[in-house]
Amino acid sequence: MGSLHNLEHSELLIGLESGDDAAVWKLSDEQAIVSTADFITPVVDDARTWGQIAAANSLSDIYAMGGKPLFALNLVAWNSDELPRELLVEVLSGGIDIATAAGISVVGGHTISDPEPKYGMSVTGIVNPNEILTNTGLLPSQELVLTKPLGIGVITTAIKRDAVGTETIAQAVASMIQLNDVAAQVALDSGATGATDVTGFGLLGHLGRMAKESSVDIMIDVDNVPLLEDSRELAEDGFVPGGTSRNLSWVADHLVAGSHSEVTKLLLADAQTSGGLVFGVDPGEAEAVCESLAKLGRFGAVIGHCTSGTGMITLK
Ligand code: CO
Ligand code: CO
Repeated sequence: MGSLHNLEHSELLIGLESGDDAAVWKLSDEQAIVSTADFITPVVDDARTWGQIAAANSLSDIYAMGGKPLFALNLVAWNSDELPRELLVEVLSGGIDIATAAGISVVGGHTISDPEPKYGMSVTGIVNPNEILTNTGLLPSQELVLTKPLGIGVITTAIKRDAVGTETIAQAVASMIQLNDVAAQVALDSGATGATDVTGFGLLGHLGRMAKESSVDIMIDVDNVPLLEDSRELAEDGFVPGGTSRNLSWVADHLVAGSHSEVTKLLLADAQTSGGLVFGVDPGEAEAVCESLAKLGRFGAVIGHCTSGTGMITLK
């Protein structure tokens, strides 16, 4: 077996080591390319909505690095024996909806035959090499801002089992198709250096990795962590995706949970699709950052803070 790493290039500013959201390749002192790919299985019944969610999810990794997307390629797996072509057109139209909202073009792509449909994008963007938001960039004493509520994994699991009402689905969809563009700009404007988007590893998994890479410990104010409506009730009823449970096991050795319940821990570890950004800002800035987000019609909550450390997370 060969190595999975092959990273000896001085232009490669961000590769595999730090578990970051996208690769960053330096072109000049002012410009670097950001490159990422992501695709997902269906999370909702409506084809166009799924396309929108998958596209927003794919674009998110560019924003999570502080970058601006330039263009995207579609990545499609489709079961053409069983699914009509019109449905695929709907999925791809959803992708175009979100690409248009992001101000970019979909310039190509590739489709393969697969019993289980999958859709996403490979996205190329650009970033100033001096303004990259990374997993290694959290600083001791910074406060943490989260820009979307948690609970997507729990709700999409309940959707698959037809156990959730239309209003709950609508708020989850609205959250998933919201681009992280504004959140990233506000993070950059506030001088943030450490950020990621909360996706498959859940808040605890992503923060655990960031804390380790940044040599900080993190204290989470559990009462301040926003949850989508109904997600706690659904988690209590057992609608917990496998990924969420695995996230919690992965982080267990680095988690001091006090008297918090298993359901609370699972919600904090819930695997998100197209989740928000979490980023660090200097103490005293966090409330103003949330106000800036609110003024721009976006969400933000101060969920905790960092101290110098070794990657431990404490729930308060
Ligand atoms: Co990411
Ligand atoms: Co990703």
